[in-house]
Amino acid sequence: MKLGSVEHKELFCRNFLDSHLEYEPENLPWPNLNEADLARLQAIPFWEKALDIEREAGAMVSSYAATVTDPLLHEAIALQGREESRHARLIKTLIDRYSINMPERPPVVLPPKIEPAFTTFGFEECLDSFFAFGLFGIARDAKVFPEALFTIFDPILDEEARHIVFFVNWFTYIQINRRQGFLPLRIVRTLGYYGKALSNLITAFGDSDPSGTGFTATGASTFTDDLTLEKFLSVCIQENYSRMSKYDERLLKPELMPKLATIAYRTLQLIPKKRQQSSIKEKTDKIVFD
Ligand SMILES: [Fe+2]
Ligand SMILES: [Fe+2]
Repeated sequence: MKLGSVEHKELFCRNFLDSHLEYEPENLPWPNLNEADLARLQAIPFWEKALDIEREAGAMVSSYAATVTDPLLHEAIALQGREESRHARLIKTLIDRYSINMPERPPVVLPPKIEPAFTTFGFEECLDSFFAFGLFGIARDAKVFPEALFTIFDPILDEEARHIVFFVNWFTYIQINRRQGFLPLRIVRTLGYYGKALSNLITAFGDSDPSGTGFTATGASTFTDDLTLEKFLSVCIQENYSRMSKYDERLLKPELMPKLATIAYRTLQLIPKKRQQSSIKEKTDKIVFD
């Protein structure tokens, strides 16, 4: 199969449309939580941001779909818009069900340039989902909430995995068919965004996060006390691999985040080894030269 061909378009669109799950957030089996679990859930600081992101995504993706004339691409992107709006409803259901404090949300404002907004959103989803997979894996493994809650959210993460697989294939298909062999400026900007997000993450895991708004302050520390960047990256890489391995081999998968994370992980692994080796060398030198 040639990337950018009609066959490629049919594969990534059909794969996306056929794997859609039917469910209504209001009818999911939300478990009753004991006081400690409820307090822990209410203390998670990202619900407001998550709700805003999903509300904006639902409106933006749906209005982008309305501009797409290719019937198959239109059908797939319109479905993604409905799924993003359903994510917003799911988070709102959770907020109401568990009495999470939430100020009134402002109305959604659509971006003026809708296709660039869809493109940037796609790259951001690739980044956010990669870390969300890891965070979810860590929280589930640590059993910070009853398994019933993870069972509800697991298919939502698979939905995000579907979105990013669709996105990277859509982006490549569009680039090839519009003969855009070079990287447009906005993509270079998005790569810059990736770099900034990664450096924020590394800072947040260090001691130099005076703002207190870094990653550990906004989620990971809620789940586990002894999380290191090395452990976090290794779980992200494994979880991403297991979610991505469900897809047809012919489809493109997001590669940048897993590659960067693997480089970062291997680098971190080298540091203690070097220290270890130098300490062994120091000891050896001491024995030999003393
Ligand atoms: Fe979403
Ligand atoms: Fe999504």
